[in-house]
Amino acid sequence: MRITGRTRLAGIMGWPVTHSRSPALHNFWIDEHGIDGAYVPLPVPPEQLAQALRALPALGFRGCNLTLPHKQAALAIVDRVDPLARRIGAMNTVIVAADGSLEGSNTDVFGFRENLRERAPDWQASAGPAVVLGAGGAARAIVAALTEARVEEIRLVNRTQARAEHLASDLAAPGTRITIHPWETRTPAQQDAGILVNTTSLGMVGESELDVDLTSLPNRAVVVDIVYVPLETALLAAARKRGHQIVDGLGMLLHQGRPGFEAWFGRPVRVTRELRAAVMTTLGAMESAAR
Ligand code: ATR
Repeated sequence: MRITGRTRLAGIMGWPVTHSRSPALHNFWIDEHGIDGAYVPLPVPPEQLAQALRALPALGFRGCNLTLPHKQAALAIVDRVDPLARRIGAMNTVIVAADGSLEGSNTDVFGFRENLRERAPDWQASAGPAVVLGAGGAARAIVAALTEARVEEIRLVNRTQARAEHLASDLAAPGTRITIHPWETRTPAQQDAGILVNTTSLGMVGESELDVDLTSLPNRAVVVDIVYVPLETALLAAARKRGHQIVDGLGMLLHQGRPGFEAWFGRPVRVTRELRAAVMTTLGAMESAAR
């Protein structure tokens, strides 16, 4: 890394922020391209979020990413929010415009779409209904991506029905029907599906296992997990054994970083095997720390 008088800066605001993999991701790209830049973790408590965001232009930052618990609160602080982030109700990327104003966007939809395109290139929206497990923040971005892809039916399976209903009404889109299913019906809900996505944190190191039976899922269906610690969750291992095409969560994390990086540092970037390996190394350390 080089730090000069002209170093371009970006970072990630979270509280806490130590768990974030974004510094490893962005600094890999900075090194790969020999950019005079740095991407730093910014621990910002919720009550100082507005102050911290407003300080970005004065400090010469090109922008930042946002993680928990700032993704919703920032919508009310920045000057412009792209319509997709508004629809999802969360933003994860801030770009400082030339005039010092702040633009907010959500790149998780892009991350999910690009990861799916890369890891399951044969998947098509017409393959059948999409089954989405969970209705939290991650589910919102994924449902938005599936409606953009024009999947005809999204079966939203969640423990708390009211949360699923809110999501369905916020993300209603022409061309897609969102149906709501009780958590107990997660096995029969997979009948005729073309894709199954786990958006809950179940199966992640330190969390309970995701208890789901894949016997109703057609062989052609793609199985996606957003959990990436471990990289191959019990869900993905079971799906692989049954011959399904599987898509792990790491790629979504890596691809979602691209739009911000390209805006802040002015270079197009790719998700390569080397990048996956570099971020995996930091994940390995995280996994053993959590055990
Ligand atoms: P994120 O923003 O990462 O999506 P979240 O908003 O906390 O995280 O959402 C977590 C999702 O996992 C929710 O859909 C949650 O279900 P509820 O809406 O009923 O809370 C789901 N989830 C978490 N633990 C669960 C469990 N033990 N069984 C079933 N669903 C669970």
